[in-house]
Amino acid sequence: MPEQIFLTRSEDETIAAGRELASKLRPPALVLLIGDLGSGKTTLAKGIISGLGAAPIEDVASPTFTLIHEYGRQPKVFHVDLYRLDRVPELETLGLDDLWDQNAVVLIEWGEKFAPQLPEERVEVRLEYLSDQERRITVVW
Ligand SMILES: Nc1ncnc2c1ncn2[C@@H]1O[C@H](COP(=O)(O)OP(=O)(O)O)[C@@H](O)[C@H]1O
Ligand SMILES: [Mg+2]
Repeated sequence: MPEQIFLTRSEDETIAAGRELASKLRPPALVLLIGDLGSGKTTLAKGIISGLGAAPIEDVASPTFTLIHEYGRQPKVFHVDLYRLDRVPELETLGLDDLWDQNAVVLIEWGEKFAPQLPEERVEVRLEYLSDQERRITVVW
């Protein structure tokens, strides 16, 4: 599996990395954004969503409380945050299964909590905190 690594030194550089990833994503695609709180998952999602032309950066907000946000069309982008979910039955009520056949790009924060319940065909992005301003972003395509 090819691996791609970005070292970013600002929020803007992480957004730029997201835009670069967007240019390589072909829907339908599932992208797991994996990393601690504050590692930059939502920031990277802003770059991906804006890079896909689905919404401007300022319209992208964290779905921590709403769980799923939907943007754009052709491709549609769903941005999901599973941080607040703990149990598989809660996940099932979200209806993620309806997303896989929509030819969409699905971005999921904290998806690793439910790895067995999610499709195996996925791009995994790991975000690591290196310092206040630096992140390492490893993409496994
Ligand atoms: N290189 C960087 N990449 C991404 N975010 C950064 C970077 N440096 C500092 N930050 C800050 O880290 C925070 C990342 O927050 P966020 O993207 O919401 O993380 P998460 O969704 O993983 O909890 C933001 O406050 C952002 O300004
Ligand atoms: Mg987040």
